[in-house]
Amino acid sequence: MGFVIAVDGPAASGKGTIAGRLAALYDYPLLDTGLLYRAVGVAVLDGLGDLDDPIAAEAVARALDLTALDRAEVRTRAAGEAASRVAVHPGVRAALFDLQRDFARREPGSVIDGRDIGTVIAPEAPAKLYVTARPEIRAERRWKQLVGQGEDVGFQEILADIRKRDERDGGRKDAPMTQAVDAVLLDTSEMTIEQAFDAARRIVEDARAHHRL
Ligand code: DC
Repeated sequence: MGFVIAVDGPAASGKGTIAGRLAALYDYPLLDTGLLYRAVGVAVLDGLGDLDDPIAAEAVARALDLTALDRAEVRTRAAGEAASRVAVHPGVRAALFDLQRDFARREPGSVIDGRDIGTVIAPEAPAKLYVTARPEIRAERRWKQLVGQGEDVGFQEILADIRKRDERDGGRKDAPMTQAVDAVLLDTSEMTIEQAFDAARRIVEDARAHHRL
């Protein structure tokens, strides 16, 4: 296993931006695991399948076309909701496990962002961050992003989405979203992107120093 930087946290916490910038800083490959679940959700919807059917969703996850991760369709509000629903099925999570583990083995290191990276995918990761922010702040960020993408949606709807998603992702039995005991909590509610990235970089530098000892 390389020097894995695990970046977990709820939707729209800023973890994606932080993970991307850390990957650029260290020149490590980046895996956004949310895209995997989003691609599965979108593929189930495209096949007119039922997101809540564990057998159907697992079959889709096992046959996942990784080129689908680059499609704009996986970045929509509907895709996020579909992802959260298929992500509750243990069969779906199992189908996506090896791909994520293989990524974590890359040398000299990697950045992986998601919900269960520090707890399930790479529990031995030397650097773990749990990035969060208050729901209202996250909803505002996500709302601006979606409106910028051309989606016609209100702030209150997005806030409701965020709360529902937190509940589903944190409440599921298999690999729920939670802060690993050895993860450092980073609350970005009152931070600019620059401040959040700077705080994240310091956390990782600290972990690197300990890793070398
Ligand atoms: O990070 P995101 O918003 O793109 O993730 C979409 C959904 O995918 C999220 O609500 C729950 C699921 N997910 C997961 O269960 N485990 C992960 N490691 C990443 C995402």
